[in-house]
Amino acid sequence: MHLAMVARPAVYVALTWAAVVSAFDRLQHSGPASPYFDAPSQSGVPTATPANCQVDQAAYILRHGSRYPEPGSFAGWQNLFAKFQNATYTARGPLAFIPSWTPPVDDVPHQPLFLSATGAGEAFALGVELRKRYGLTKGGGNLTVWSASQQRCVDTASHFLRGYLSQGNYLTSPELNRGSIITLPDSVNFTFANSLTPSAACPAYNAGNTGSAKATAFRATYQAKIAQRLNRFLEGLALDAADVGVMQDLCGFLAEVDGDTRFCDVFEESEWLDYEYAHDLNYYYGSGPGNPVAAATGYPWVKAISDLFAVGPSHTTSNGTLTPPPLIMGFTHDNNLAPVVAALGLWNTSSHGVYPLSLTKPNPARTFRSSYLVAFRGYVALERLSCSRGTEIDTVKHISNQSPIAGERDAFVRVRINRAPVPIPGCSSGPGATCPLQQFLKHVEQRGIASGDFVQTCGLEGVANATSVVSFLTTAPDPASVRVLSL
Ligand SMILES: *[C@@H]1O[C@H](CO)[C@@H](O)[C@H](O)[C@H]1NC(C)=O
Ligand SMILES: *[C@@H]1O[C@H](CO)[C@@H](O)[C@H](O)[C@H]1NC(C)=O
Ligand SMILES: *[C@@H]1O[C@H](CO)[C@@H](O)[C@H](O)[C@H]1NC(C)=O
Ligand SMILES: *[C@@H]1O[C@H](CO)[C@@H](O)[C@H](O)[C@H]1NC(C)=O
Ligand SMILES: *[C@@H]1O[C@H](CO)[C@@H](O)[C@H](O)[C@H]1NC(C)=O
Ligand SMILES: *[C@@H]1O[C@H](CO)[C@@H](O)[C@H](O)[C@H]1NC(C)=O
Repeated sequence: MHLAMVARPAVYVALTWAAVVSAFDRLQHSGPASPYFDAPSQSGVPTATPANCQVDQAAYILRHGSRYPEPGSFAGWQNLFAKFQNATYTARGPLAFIPSWTPPVDDVPHQPLFLSATGAGEAFALGVELRKRYGLTKGGGNLTVWSASQQRCVDTASHFLRGYLSQGNYLTSPELNRGSIITLPDSVNFTFANSLTPSAACPAYNAGNTGSAKATAFRATYQAKIAQRLNRFLEGLALDAADVGVMQDLCGFLAEVDGDTRFCDVFEESEWLDYEYAHDLNYYYGSGPGNPVAAATGYPWVKAISDLFAVGPSHTTSNGTLTPPPLIMGFTHDNNLAPVVAALGLWNTSSHGVYPLSLTKPNPARTFRSSYLVAFRGYVALERLSCSRGTEIDTVKHISNQSPIAGERDAFVRVRINRAPVPIPGCSSGPGATCPLQQFLKHVEQRGIASGDFVQTCGLEGVANATSVVSFLTTAPDPASVRVLSL
């Protein structure tokens, strides 16, 4: 009796797990509307830090956490709601819920554009994760981070810090365990490359951005067909292509805002793959390798990190007046991640003719997937690893009172995108397909030539004070831009 009671849940769990691992997850194919998830390792490289290595310095550039819709897309939700309410019709099957569906925004002046609770949780969780993974700063230490100035970025930074600083109790010593957020002005004519939103300070960028038009053209190939299929479940109401666009967006957004996944269930797997591909085209040709100007806007951040990796943690560049912490965090927007991917030369090379991405036929062999990069709280991270010489060892001799990690070590660099390791083309000879530091520095120099100089490429030559250099990481900030959080 007792055994039977134990055994039944065990079988149930096993079956559920099998179902879960084989299921197609719509929320992992929703592009920028996907709540955060760890991307799969497309290269097959294990996600863990190689056993004989330690990360001693890391830099993240990330999108803010899950949020409510922007006012423009919220108007689309409201129009769809009005359409569902205003008509007299019957709805069946997968659409039977739409007569009673209401948009989950119950405080219009304070929600659209800002983080949802899920977004705050994603940021807090990353703070916990990075503190545990790296141990780069000790308890009772400070951490300074940088943020673009929009409130959803600053809020992501502050929830991140709350997670990062959540251990221990410092109520009686509030000067310890502090987080500081340096808020950078969003790109305006006086910031040029020196911000976390450089594409907005680059006049040539928009002319190079053909992403939105290409995505719209691709959507026109499938949305009307989906509307036709769904209209079989309606009498007295007809959905059109634009409604389908809003309804697919609602899958990811409602999942993170209030946990409602009914719109996810409306669409079939192939319809999700088309929806995802339209987003892939938007980012690849908008802010990624397919915009000939994008790499020049992502490169200055890559170069600044490369300069800091060259001198190592707890040092600054020759011209620096500020030593950044060993964990360098920058909070920004989706459109500032793909330029970094383009600048590093990732997700744009293949022997199978995948790139440039086809405008009409999704190639499943592509590694450029918007869902794996610009999901909410998505990131591009560079890690500097210090690894002991020699191959993997499974026998370690301990000498009395000597650290086993002393001795000869070499430095390597790894790129992670939404946690998945992404090897750098032509530079993956280190442990776990990492790139030896000296080769990485050369790779970055070469990518600088391929990417183009910011000022030149953006058409800013002769403009007073225009700069191609990110110096905010190594320059003491304007005190008015620093917000201190004590926990
Ligand atoms: C509501 O329905 C009426 C009559 O069917 C129509 O004329 C009107 O445009 C509709 N309004 C909205 C917001 O859909
Ligand atoms: C943290 O920063 C504050 C303000 O800058 C400073 O007073 C304090 O000494 C710092 N604490 C540590 C442990 O560095
Ligand atoms: C920025 O500079 C460009 C060209 O130099 C000019 O056309 C534009 O009006 C300026 N924008 C602002 C906000 O000053
Ligand atoms: C990406 O690849 C295409 C061709 O496949 C090439 O034309 C383009 O220059 C590449 N872009 C970058 C930023 O490497
Ligand atoms: C500061 O020094 C680094 C090398 O340490 C260099 O790459 C960078 O361009 C310099 N920045 C400025 C503003 O001169
Ligand atoms: C250029 O920088 C100088 C020194 O910081 C400043 O005085 C001047 O106003 C700036 N010029 C422009 C056009 O921003």
